[in-house]
Amino acid sequence: MQQKRIIIAIDGHSSCGKSTMAKDLAKEIGYIYVDTGAMYRAVTLYSIQNKMWQGSALDEEALRCAMPNIKVGFKYYPEEGRSHTLLNGQDVEKEIRTMEVSGKVSPIATIPFVREAMVAQQQSFGLDKGIVMDGRDVGTTVFPNAELKIFVTADPKVRAQRRLDEIRAKGDSTTTFEEVLKNLNERDYIDSHREISPLRQAEDALVLDNSHMSIPEQKAWLIDRFNSIVK
Ligand code: DC
Repeated sequence: MQQKRIIIAIDGHSSCGKSTMAKDLAKEIGYIYVDTGAMYRAVTLYSIQNKMWQGSALDEEALRCAMPNIKVGFKYYPEEGRSHTLLNGQDVEKEIRTMEVSGKVSPIATIPFVREAMVAQQQSFGLDKGIVMDGRDVGTTVFPNAELKIFVTADPKVRAQRRLDEIRAKGDSTTTFEEVLKNLNERDYIDSHREISPLRQAEDALVLDNSHMSIPEQKAWLIDRFNSIVK
C-alpha cells in the first residue's frame, strides 16, 4: 500500500537548526524541502543589489514596483544532496547568508506585499503534498492544515554559538559571539512582534526544544512523529 503523502511544517526561532533538520528529514523520507527563510533572504539581496537602501532606510516603493520581477526558485544538486536558492535564475546560495543580508532581512519580511508574494509561491509548492517546509509562519499561515507541525526552539546562547560555528566554518574569523547574539535577539524580537504573520507556535504544533539534543536524536524524534501519522 502506498504511504499517505503529507505536508510537514517546521517553524521556530532563527538559528536553531530548523533547516538542517528539515533538509535531513526530507531526504530521508523522499520529500521536497523548501527553506522559506531563503526566499525572504533572496528578496533582501535583490533590494541590496538594486540600491534600495539608504543606510537603514528602505525605499519600499521601489521594492513594491520591482516585486513582479523578483523570481525566487530552488535548484536541487544531487551530488550535494541539497538545493541552492536562485534569484532570477542566478545561484545566490552563498550571497543570501552574509551578515549584511541577515541584518536587513527581518524588516523586509515584515512588509505585507513581500509576504503575500512569498506565501502564494510557497502554497503553490505544496499542491502535491510530499513537502517539508521550514520558516516562521508555515504551520500558522502558509499551511494551517498541515498534517504535521513542529515548533523548534533552543536557548539563545546555544543558537548564537551554533550560528557562529557556521560563520567560522565559512572562513569569517572577525564576527564575534556578541554580534551574532545581538543579531539573533533582534531578529527574534522583530519576527515575533510584527503585525503580519508573527512567529508564534500553532496551537496544534509539537514543540521540540533542541538545546541539548544531538542531530541524530532530533532526526529520530522527527521520523517517529512522521511514522505515527503516515502509517
Ligand atoms: O530562517 P532564516 O534565518 O533564514 O530567515 C530569515 C528571515 O526571514 C528571518 O528574519 C525571519 C524571516 N522569515 C519569515 O519572516 N517568515 C518565514 N516563513 C521564514 C523566514
